[in-house]
Amino acid sequence: MELATTLTGQTVRNHVREVGINGNHWYAVAWAKDLKPKKILSVMIWQQAIALYRDSQNQVHAVENVCPHKGVAIDKGQVKGDTIVCGYHGWEFNSKGECIGIPYWNSSQKLPCAQLRSFPVQEQYGLIWLFPGDPTLAATQPLPTMPEYDDPDWLLIPVGAHFNAHFSICNENTMDVFHGYLHKNLQGWFDPVLLKLRETEDSVTADYQVSYQGPITKFLGLSEVGDRVTTQTISVDYRYPNYVNNLQGISSLYLMRLPIAPHASRSFTFMFLKIRLPRPLVNLLRPVLQPVIIHLLFLRFLRQDMEMIESEQENYLKDPQRRYVEVNPAIIAVQRLILRQYETFVRSQNPSQQTPKSVYPEVSAP
Ligand code: FES
Ligand SMILES: [Fe+2]
Repeated sequence: MELATTLTGQTVRNHVREVGINGNHWYAVAWAKDLKPKKILSVMIWQQAIALYRDSQNQVHAVENVCPHKGVAIDKGQVKGDTIVCGYHGWEFNSKGECIGIPYWNSSQKLPCAQLRSFPVQEQYGLIWLFPGDPTLAATQPLPTMPEYDDPDWLLIPVGAHFNAHFSICNENTMDVFHGYLHKNLQGWFDPVLLKLRETEDSVTADYQVSYQGPITKFLGLSEVGDRVTTQTISVDYRYPNYVNNLQGISSLYLMRLPIAPHASRSFTFMFLKIRLPRPLVNLLRPVLQPVIIHLLFLRFLRQDMEMIESEQENYLKDPQRRYVEVNPAIIAVQRLILRQYETFVRSQNPSQQTPKSVYPEVSAP
């Protein structure tokens, strides 16, 4: 559905700062390189502790990080072949989470029914993806597609970040192209105009017109001459729970959001840049270009965003009843989507439950 691109002002409904996630999607939970053979990696997804490990075939498995015997964190144990063994009494669990051995158990006796909850998990694009909701729906939900990932014409810049903020605040920052003001000293972008706004059941897409000027513009190939103003259209696509931003074949950004807790989120970002240099030269420069771009460009923007995002969260917590005013309809659409997805998930878990009283953003008095 096409939406209006202007808004006179709408108050933000506080509820969006408190809602949970729709678990019936795939979430990036870790960099694949961080999960070493024979090691257990603990991660959090929306207040749920998960233990990841690889079996003898290097296949990734995900189980709840809580031993069903006494509740000890299972990541204090070890990986033994294809099984995971709790560090406290040595109970052993297979990849389905079934208890298949207790060291002090009489082998003639039937083992107790102790189940470690397991989750659908897969490794793709250098990330570990987890499906925290109804496992029977995992096969019906796709992962984001990243055609640039295996294309040598694109330079991949992977960046991870942790924010002390609810995922709605982080996601609004990503949709909010009007905050170019914050990055003015980095010569980011200016004069944004929202051209087009569309929403579906699980996405919000906004096309913004933005202008660029300066050396970064030249480096990214946005203009031949850095001091000339270049105007381009950027498409920001929030496909719950992740983002895809596209700048006319010059750069693409995939931002995978991991909600950890009510005031904590992570992001796994892939920035792809089309480097206009001969491929052998790019391959030669790749190991140098990646850290240079991360430190000199990406992290400088990220630190500025982080400061604002965490300040917004802090002030929300000081006075959760206070209402704030929004004028970007794309942000209101993002809030609606987050709330709608959460409601859908709550309903799917308990179909007889009534939808909570309208949780949608309310219109302020003129
Ligand atoms: S608490 Fe895990 S085996 Fe006892
Ligand atoms: Fe930013």
